[in-house]
Amino acid sequence: MDDVLAQFTAEVTRALVATGQVPADLIELATPKPNIPTDLAFPTFKAAKALGTAPPALAAALAAALTLPPDGLTGTVTTFGPFLNFSLHPERLAVAVISLIRATGAHYGHQQIGAGRRMVVDYSAPNVAKRMHVGHIRSTIIGQALVNVHRALGYTVIGDNHLGDWGKQFGVVLASVERDGTPTGQGEAVLAALEAQYARYAADAKADPALDEHARLWSLRLEQGDPQARALWQWSVDLTMDAAQRNYDRLGVAIDHAYGESFYEPMLAEVIQAALDHGVAFREAGGAVVVEALDQMPTFLLQRSDGGTLYMTRDVATIHFRVREFQPTHIVYVVGEPQALHLRQLFALVRTMGYAKTTELTHVAFGTVFDSAGQPLSTRRGNMVYLETLLDDAVSRARAVVEQKSPELPAAEKQAVAEAVGVGAVVYNDLYQDPKRNLTLDWERMLATEGNSATYLQYSHARCRSILRRAAEDGSAAQPDALALLIHPSETRLLKHLARLPEAVREAGKRYAPFVIADWCYTTAREFGVFFEQCPVLKAESPALRAARLALVAATATALKNGLSLLGIKAPERM
Ligand code: ARG
Repeated sequence: MDDVLAQFTAEVTRALVATGQVPADLIELATPKPNIPTDLAFPTFKAAKALGTAPPALAAALAAALTLPPDGLTGTVTTFGPFLNFSLHPERLAVAVISLIRATGAHYGHQQIGAGRRMVVDYSAPNVAKRMHVGHIRSTIIGQALVNVHRALGYTVIGDNHLGDWGKQFGVVLASVERDGTPTGQGEAVLAALEAQYARYAADAKADPALDEHARLWSLRLEQGDPQARALWQWSVDLTMDAAQRNYDRLGVAIDHAYGESFYEPMLAEVIQAALDHGVAFREAGGAVVVEALDQMPTFLLQRSDGGTLYMTRDVATIHFRVREFQPTHIVYVVGEPQALHLRQLFALVRTMGYAKTTELTHVAFGTVFDSAGQPLSTRRGNMVYLETLLDDAVSRARAVVEQKSPELPAAEKQAVAEAVGVGAVVYNDLYQDPKRNLTLDWERMLATEGNSATYLQYSHARCRSILRRAAEDGSAAQPDALALLIHPSETRLLKHLARLPEAVREAGKRYAPFVIADWCYTTAREFGVFFEQCPVLKAESPALRAARLALVAATATALKNGLSLLGIKAPERM
């Protein structure tokens, strides 16, 4: 069993069933609110009603009839009116939790509930010839966390980077490169130059119909597979992916596929025909293919009157392809809130077309990013933040924190720690709350060494590791431990919380909510802080207690590192 609390619940359920006084299907156990001093409760209302007795009477009868395994996880059983309350046995809790974390190590929290299920996660999806903006950053970070979480739950996860690498605007990209040449440089700088060049051409084309026509011809050449157009296009795709890859590497992001919108071009005619055949779309007199009044949503196009296709058309083909190729049970779109209608229309359309009969389609939407002055980031406003500069900025600020907090570290390690802390701050800022909520870029809060920040969590982990290093130096870690000595209330609280990681991972997966794991990490760090304040570790009263506390510190470090790693955040050994 990879979950101590699930084991506890199963033990209590078995004991209740064994009384013969209540059938299994009437047993619903609940985890009481934090202010109730028990660990598991059986509210007997429903069962008592079904059995025709009064709830307090049933609770009392069950308490009298119960026999619990002598070496099990259950400590005391009490009744409180209609409630039958069970508390964990502190000694056995300590032994069970620490043994499990030791045995499973980097896999503690992982489980198999998703085994046999396949999930496609559509995330990151930058647009070619442009830098990733904050929307893509959010998608990349949230998407990777969801991939990590579902892999930990045993799902087969296929990440797909649905690159914006197709559409009319490529005519302008290619025409501008023909006119102004190919910009040189590295990373996002060269993309920025390409964006500027694009903007100049687009502005000039507004005033000069010849330029506009020229861009249109380039876009036609590209669609018709003209080798020169194709080569230039490929160059811009490679340039974009190169810049993206540098950022992905820093963020620990790895996406299995990047088919991109262009991949679906050959499948679009079939998709349009299928929509017409299903009667969900019709061709207007002018030639455009229209979907009208689908689930009372606004009208949208699958084909323009000039024969051109749309983002939507490619998304329909994408689902058709993914279902055939991967047979997924789930497809998850990590895309900003502004595309909610687009995705609702898409999902409704493919349902009508019968393309995703047994696949659950989910939009994980996320909110807007604001600067520290409370303004939404936008290219037009000129306060847009790009990923490479965001990460560089975060790392140089983190470097200052590291210099101040850990001046003794060697220079190379300082830089590695600053990278982990800076990148961690950016990642955590995207994950610590519900993705639907808007976000602020507030460096003070993001890099705070106290409070709900990655930095604080990383410090807590590094603190654990430092205690263990000091113990190893003076040899006390070598003592045999007696885990059953860990019965101080703050030890028990920490242990109970460590035991909750598997449940937090399940909930994060089910709700597509990495913040559930972030919350778990934050509470872990706080509970550890309380324990460390109240229970001397290196100076514990006896060698056995010191060894047991060191084991708890080691278990905390392992579990916290696992939680952070699911979020995509590194946990340095020293800070
Ligand atoms: N490239 C798109 C954008 O930048 C996001 C693509 C999201 N995925 C999808 N299958 N539509 O807005």
